[in-house]
Amino acid sequence: MLFIKNIIVIIASAAIHGIHGINVVLSWLQGRNWQNKQGKTLPVRLLFTDVEGKSIKFASAKATPYLSWLARHRKQANNAAVIRGLKRAFFEPEQQAIVPSDTYLSALIINTSACYSLKKTTTANHLTLDLSDLDIYHTNPDRFFEARFACMEKGQIQSITMKDGTKVNAGDRDWDKAKLHLLSTINLVLPALSHNWVHFHFADIATAISHNMLPIGSVLHQWLSPYTLSHLSTNANGKSGAVMDRDMGEKKFFWSDYFIINHTDNDYFVNSVAAKTSSFYQRQDNCPFDGPLAFAFPPQFSPDFKDVPYMSALKEGFKASQKYVNHCLKALDKQSITLLQEWKYHVVKRTCHAYHPNDVRLEDLLATYIWQVCWVHTLDHQMYYKWIDGLHSASGTLNTFHDAGPLYSHKDQIQFKNMADIAIRYNPNGDSLADLHYKVPFLEEALNTYKTDLLQIIQNHVAIELENQKKNLTLAEIAPSVLM
Ligand SMILES: [Fe+2]
Repeated sequence: MLFIKNIIVIIASAAIHGIHGINVVLSWLQGRNWQNKQGKTLPVRLLFTDVEGKSIKFASAKATPYLSWLARHRKQANNAAVIRGLKRAFFEPEQQAIVPSDTYLSALIINTSACYSLKKTTTANHLTLDLSDLDIYHTNPDRFFEARFACMEKGQIQSITMKDGTKVNAGDRDWDKAKLHLLSTINLVLPALSHNWVHFHFADIATAISHNMLPIGSVLHQWLSPYTLSHLSTNANGKSGAVMDRDMGEKKFFWSDYFIINHTDNDYFVNSVAAKTSSFYQRQDNCPFDGPLAFAFPPQFSPDFKDVPYMSALKEGFKASQKYVNHCLKALDKQSITLLQEWKYHVVKRTCHAYHPNDVRLEDLLATYIWQVCWVHTLDHQMYYKWIDGLHSASGTLNTFHDAGPLYSHKDQIQFKNMADIAIRYNPNGDSLADLHYKVPFLEEALNTYKTDLLQIIQNHVAIELENQKKNLTLAEIAPSVLM
């Protein structure tokens, strides 16, 4: 049997890498003329989709062979992850779910994108992790996402409340069980809901307009293309369902069992992405903060969350991005600046009706874009992966909080690890910030300073040693663009 499994892995590896090789050659053949035509614009098609009842558009753009060619490293990394998933299915034994300590779980919340769901309560030093967005999110009927609120005092978790109102306090008999339910709920909320605004709308618009306007080979194209790489194909996958290969109750085939991203219906996933994204980008002037971060050019950080380390890392990352952008803008010629002003006009106009393009500074828009697709996107993915890795949990549970049955099956754990490997963890493959270099001297100089600044922020706000585990980030683990 072992021999047969090994043969299957070898055949699958050869097939996956072979198909990838053919696609790379096809992309190169289709895209090479565009690469050679310096000064020509790219034929990226912009698509705008209305979201019912929302005043702003939800935008995306179709990937072109040129973009597919640029994204070849990413696809190669994804293929390797698929093969790792197959090996897990065949060879990995069942592992016990780990119940994190209160300190670890609290740190996970304030050091990952979970903190986007934090709300300030009227009592000083109290924060509530509010996962009630799940009440409008449709999940598969055979999976349970039970946790809704977690109360924290001075950065330490105190209680967890389930969707039926059951409240469990730290130290109660069911406390460990409540923590596992909270984790399994976070495992859906973080990748499926908290992170939507980072991918869609503004990122799509700015990326598509960049590809439409910036001449290939120009200094502007050289500067910005690493940050636009892959957004369109990544986001198209998210919206089209390529990463969501299982609709409610639908059983496809053995393979799809191991590559489910979320236990939910694909149509609802797309609608939820649209709704969450558009609500983030609708500027609320009277009360801009529903949580720690509000959209604006530049983004706004609520002072109520200044002690949350993840928000400090985001805020400092924005300052570094501003410095980087200003460094580059100062060295660009007048013609390039004029073109960027035109880029700004189209991007701002399409992103938010509340802003007139003239009211937004070019440096703020560029810094917001690079900060979002590079720094925020990487932190959201990587730090969640690093904190959840090793807990052997899954997304959703097999039973409700009041049932006595097991929380996950062996398959659920493998599915979650595969999903984390493909869609959460960045698999650097020649496309990280460490790999990025420019031939233009001033771009390279500015980038080197940006890298140094980000490393310093990691040191100050990201790198943590807790319970003999180190959480850290290197330049090789930073994706310049929306790659996963
Ligand atoms: Fe992402």
